[in-house]
Amino acid sequence: MAEHIRVLLSEEEVDRRIQEIGEQISRDYAGKKVHLVCVLKGGSFFMCELAKRITVPVSLDFMSVSSYGSDTKSSGVVKIVKDLDESLKDKDVIVVEDIVDSGRTLSYLLEMLRDRGPASLRLCTLLDKPDRRVIDVNVDYTGFQIPDEFVVGYGLDYDQMYRNLPYIGVVEFDN
Ligand code: IMP
Ligand code: MG
Repeated sequence: MAEHIRVLLSEEEVDRRIQEIGEQISRDYAGKKVHLVCVLKGGSFFMCELAKRITVPVSLDFMSVSSYGSDTKSSGVVKIVKDLDESLKDKDVIVVEDIVDSGRTLSYLLEMLRDRGPASLRLCTLLDKPDRRVIDVNVDYTGFQIPDEFVVGYGLDYDQMYRNLPYIGVVEFDN
């Protein structure tokens, strides 16, 4: 089946919003350092753009997780595929994600990271689909709330493709 991509959020809109979030974080963390934790692979494009717009000192780390179980829907039990290189102890940590959907992955992940003793722990997501939430997750910084549609671009994939699109689009299937 062929598919095409309908633009939902243009490159300009996304860039402008990331600039705003960068400024907000720079104000909120004035006088501190911020440690960004990127959840691979989806969060990587957003984290790089965001980090460039934060004016307080920034350090970065990456982790990769996958859901346990054969079900394609996230089970909420997360396996660490690649762990962080550095300790979170006493750091002001912001987890940077592409999208919060059911909230299962992130609620599990945040609980796990909180046990590592960060001075503070916040969540920043480019996209939020509130209609899909199954588990409550406290999101501190949100780029855009979007309707319940499957989106790609800016790190988000459909079957590992389209992550490189510089905008957010909806996958539509041609009949
Ligand atoms: P959840 O919040 O535990 O349901 O899992 C969220 C994860 O599902 C995200 O990190 C994405 O990898 C993936 N995901 C959810 N919605 C979309 C979408 O619209 N496009 C691409 N990936 C998505
Ligand atoms: Mg993700």
